[in-house]
Amino acid sequence: MPILSLPTPALILLIAPSGAGKSTFAARHFSPTEIISSDRCRAFISDDENNQQVTQAAFGLLHHWTRLRLAQPRLTVIDATNVQYSARQPLLRLARAAQVPAVALVLDVSLATCLSRNRQRPQRFVAEEIIRQQYHEFTSALLHLSREGYAQIRRLKEDTLDSIQILREQITREQITDEQAVREALETRKN
Ligand code: CTP
Ligand code: MG
Repeated sequence: MPILSLPTPALILLIAPSGAGKSTFAARHFSPTEIISSDRCRAFISDDENNQQVTQAAFGLLHHWTRLRLAQPRLTVIDATNVQYSARQPLLRLARAAQVPAVALVLDVSLATCLSRNRQRPQRFVAEEIIRQQYHEFTSALLHLSREGYAQIRRLKEDTLDSIQILREQITREQITDEQAVREALETRKN
């Protein structure tokens, strides 16, 4: 059985287009209070998970909620597509401010699978052109993630997603600070 080891606490960004299986994956591996979903934030504000008109407020709530959890600090999983840099950047900033490692967890699912799962799901349908656009942004994001400052980038292939087991590696404040110091030193040397 493939094993994925994740630092805890951490800020985990799920990254994948709509229909890839992010919410399914999150529900399988994390507790409900560890998951912050952009669709749930839309629902908390407007009683409708699909309400695109409250996007700005929903992300405001998502960021605020994330900030409060990272201040504890608690493991926090962001269940949103995160295919655009403008979505990832404020989250990376929150992790850095809280001195918590950020992990990019890429669900590497094909466009065909996203489209077919989207067609089959009963409660929700996202327009196909939106998923195609997100997939395009997703493939371009994969080229840039390594330069965005994650402590880890984990890319899970479609065929391992259903069988993977997650191990949580507890890390201490000291380890986080040490790792951050090393990363900053390396970044300074690169510049
Ligand atoms: N699904 C599946 N097998 C999987 C994962 C998901 O059949 N291994 C199905 C789910 O039951 C759901 C659909 O595929 O009907 C989409 O999965 P979901 O987790 O909702 O995808 P998300 O990535 O969360 O999509 P969105 O961004 O639109 O929330
Ligand atoms: Mg979802």
